[in-house]
Amino acid sequence: DKAGHRHFMAKEMAEQPAVLKAAMGFYSGLDHDRIDLPDAIDFASADRLIMVACGTAFYACQVAKYWFEKYAGLAVELDIASEFRYRDPVLGLSNMALFVSQSGETADTLAALRHVRPHVAQVLSVVNVPTSSIARESDVALPIHAGPEIGVASTKAFTAQLQVLALLALKAGLDRGFLSGEDFDARLAELRLLPGFVAQALDREEEIKRMSEALAQARDVLFLGRGVMFPLALEGALKLKEISYIHAEAYAAGELKHGPIALIDTDLPVIVFAPHDALFEKTVSNMQEVMARQGKVLLISDAKGLAEAGDVPFRLQMPTVPDFIAPIVYAVPAQLIAYHTALHRGTDVDQPRNLAKSVTVE
Ligand code: F6R
Repeated sequence: DKAGHRHFMAKEMAEQPAVLKAAMGFYSGLDHDRIDLPDAIDFASADRLIMVACGTAFYACQVAKYWFEKYAGLAVELDIASEFRYRDPVLGLSNMALFVSQSGETADTLAALRHVRPHVAQVLSVVNVPTSSIARESDVALPIHAGPEIGVASTKAFTAQLQVLALLALKAGLDRGFLSGEDFDARLAELRLLPGFVAQALDREEEIKRMSEALAQARDVLFLGRGVMFPLALEGALKLKEISYIHAEAYAAGELKHGPIALIDTDLPVIVFAPHDALFEKTVSNMQEVMARQGKVLLISDAKGLAEAGDVPFRLQMPTVPDFIAPIVYAVPAQLIAYHTALHRGTDVDQPRNLAKSVTVE
């Protein structure tokens, strides 16, 4: 049931504020300065967190790596499951492992889990399907409470995964004595603002729809971001590829001059994710290198960022949000750009060619 929406993907994007709010209720209840995660999870003596997933779930892990480092001082090793399972990762009993999967049935992720399980202290998973194989085979499974996701392109599962990973990073910060009680309370309060900010981001849909008309003509699109916005750029490129069939690539903005800048010409749209944070100026200077070569830039930023960036061909204003939760809010334009570009091209948004919702073979 699409609940009046044209596609499941549209319905699932629209559900995000409600999903985030409800899921927060499960993990923090009415007690506003606590997180209710199972006591069995204890990051205090972990010396490393290994995170493994595929596709969009992997990009959620990539965002979470910045959080675990910044808010918990915990070293993170990150890999895609199809690589991780066939290398010889160095594992130890003071390591914790975390697997993220919407379906909980992705063959490579499950195989990676089975591979590490005997060699690490604890196996955690973040899943949407609590009865799934990955959930059953973990020591502790944390459901994201997103409800069924039918559209092949993952949307609400991504933002709901990020929210649970953010809670885990804060818990790790407390467990390890890395984050002060005051900082913990402040970050948790920021997470509670998500439903409102995500709703505001969804309100930019008409504008994104108009901008996507030009994108639908492109043969290739480049996405750029730095820090937590780099995985967002990757997610934007993946969404665009899978549902619009336009070739898209994402680069960390600082890598631009190490090769991809050779691609820039008047035909290449370049989408830049750059909230006004500590890395803003760096990203903007990369963006200016693109503009100096007549690249068609779409800058996604907040009021302050857009004001400072000056004259940019296409601009999309996001709400001004705390750094911690920005990657979750900026997921929305990544999704909407792909959705509307695909609609302009007339592709099958919910059932893109060659793709299955759950990849149970390797
Ligand atoms: C992209 C997408 C895929 C999945 C990937 C992992 O929109 O949906 O990249 O994220 O196949 O699937 P799960 O999360 O079920 O393990």
